[in-house]
Amino acid sequence: MKKFAIAVPIFGLVICFYACSHSPFTPATNATHDTTNATTHITPPPDTTSTSNVADTSVCFARDILPMLQSSCGISGCHDAASAKKGYVYTSYNTIMAYGIVAYKPNSSATYAYCYSGKMPKSPIPKLDSTQMSLLKRWIANGAHNDSNCAVSCDTSKYTYSNAIAPMMKSYCTSCHSTASAASAGGNIILDTYAAILVQAQNGKLLGDVQHASGFNYMPLGGTKLSDCKITQISKWIAAGAPNN
Ligand code: HEC
Repeated sequence: MKKFAIAVPIFGLVICFYACSHSPFTPATNATHDTTNATTHITPPPDTTSTSNVADTSVCFARDILPMLQSSCGISGCHDAASAKKGYVYTSYNTIMAYGIVAYKPNSSATYAYCYSGKMPKSPIPKLDSTQMSLLKRWIANGAHNDSNCAVSCDTSKYTYSNAIAPMMKSYCTSCHSTASAASAGGNIILDTYAAILVQAQNGKLLGDVQHASGFNYMPLGGTKLSDCKITQISKWIAAGAPNN
């Protein structure tokens, strides 16, 4: 009995030591960014002090970061205000800053580290791709500011499938509506292929949903309504016959 009383706390200590030494924030060398293999959790390398004083104006919170984190992470059952798994809520600047972001230090930021390792977003929500990871990293490295005066490159006279519609779906919709995630997160509606988007364009739901028209589901679900410019692009594309152009 005495032996047991000593063995248990020692065993506990060993477990704790093991667990702590394998936290996602342990610096690792030779880490490469691998989003394809979600089972090997790669830790980003330690942050280095930046030598550049030039602000990176090509990334902007309201335009690039909020919609991305909201649609991939701030969703029902995960990190919206009601679910708030592990305290993380990805629905506004203040909640995003409350946990998991260390300004100027992307690799020390849990939000970045978990996405980098491939642990988050959890399957079937698609992992952030390299463009999205780069945006997140640069935004944090810049100081994780709440920039909202973003230059928006939306032009209602340009509404081709490849330049306007597909990228918009990718930014705001395919976290829930990808071929992989649609069954569990997107009501079985797929929006990551032309053929599947065409179905929703032709049945009127794509436009009705993004317009928040009465009687429709409001999309993006739980997120901010798309800008008028973007809704106009969708509307004009559908009016032109929703071509694969
Ligand atoms: C957070 C996850 C999520 C995001 C992001 C999201 N949706 Fe949805 N969407 C859903 C769910 C869940 C349903 C099923 C709702 C239902 O059937 O009640 C749905 C349904 C739909 C439908 C079918 C609606 C109907 O009336 O049957 C369309 C069309 C749609 N979404 C378009 C979009 C578009 C366009 C975007 C991006 C601008 C978007 N969604 C973003 C979760 C999402």
